[in-house]
Amino acid sequence: MSLTGHPNGPAPETLPALWYHDPEVYARERQAIFRRHWWPLAREDQLVSSGAYAAGEIAGWPAFVIRGKDGELRGFHNVCRHRAGPLVREAAGRCAALTCRYHGWRYDLEGRLKSAPGLTLGEDLEAAEFSLHPLRVASWNGLVFACLDDAGPDLAAWLGDIVAIAEGFPAVPDMAFQGEIVKAGAANWKAYGDNSCEGYHVKLVHTGLGKTVPDEQVEIRPYENGAFIGFDVTYAPSAADPSRRGKGFWVYKFPGLLLHFSDFAFNLEIVIPTGPRTVFLRRWFWCAEELATAAGTSARAAIDSAEQVMGEDLEICELVQKNLEAGVYECGRLSPTEEVGTIFFQQLVRAALDGTDGDPPSAP
Ligand code: FES
Ligand SMILES: [Fe+2]
Repeated sequence: MSLTGHPNGPAPETLPALWYHDPEVYARERQAIFRRHWWPLAREDQLVSSGAYAAGEIAGWPAFVIRGKDGELRGFHNVCRHRAGPLVREAAGRCAALTCRYHGWRYDLEGRLKSAPGLTLGEDLEAAEFSLHPLRVASWNGLVFACLDDAGPDLAAWLGDIVAIAEGFPAVPDMAFQGEIVKAGAANWKAYGDNSCEGYHVKLVHTGLGKTVPDEQVEIRPYENGAFIGFDVTYAPSAADPSRRGKGFWVYKFPGLLLHFSDFAFNLEIVIPTGPRTVFLRRWFWCAEELATAAGTSARAAIDSAEQVMGEDLEICELVQKNLEAGVYECGRLSPTEEVGTIFFQQLVRAALDGTDGDPPSAP
């Protein structure tokens, strides 16, 4: 498969409207896409001491990562082996053992069943057969990722060229965490992905940005090594929004991870599907304050600007979602010059659902 060609002609067809709300398509995507990729679940600074954990959800799979007594990071499905109760309920915290909140089955930090009230381990059941279901875990740039699939690339191979690109910018562990923005939206994850992979909408949707980032200063292209769309950005000077200046590099990493590198800050946004018609956005910000001050801006300005832009993007995606579901629109055409990234994104979706992306997808 060529990832950068245009197999459907010079102005390729969009994905069918049905794919943006059909529960069967979403069920296939969960298996063929979401369970096969890496997802950030925690920041390393949340998991410094043993028993520290952070929890999240990967397209409907509740999951958490935790630091063991041996110092190792591990990941587990947040699902008790008794009757599927939750182990951790907080988004982040610290515990000495993992005790299910339903009937009190207790696991150690390595996920091994240690006690089950009303049952005798070794007689009623073998503890070794009821360990928590593990996830793959790996770290990069101060971020802890998890993957549900045992097969597939390791984290560095999955990131591909992003690893080298990141080396040209300040590293996350050298900056201070500034906070997060979360937003829930009534749009399919692909509506948000389509939008995030192009700059075509910027002038009309982000009227503030349109003035500060003229088109010719953003070079958008697909990268095959890592399967992402890169936006190489040179900001125009702006008195109205000093947070946007200098050089930057934005990434839309398939299927749902946005990374924004700049001379003095980094932020990531995770596009988490919560159903065929809904999405949850989580965005984390880091900043090197002294570099930001030297550039005449601040972390606060960057967060405020990002919040405004996210709100504008989500608003248009929710309106598009309503129209995709209305039953009049079936399919459109994409601009081969203005929507290069969206064309690539949609090719990756098709390839994953067709099973032509290298490995046959697991059966739903
Ligand atoms: S579901 Fe966990 S103890 Fe019952
Ligand atoms: Fe946008």
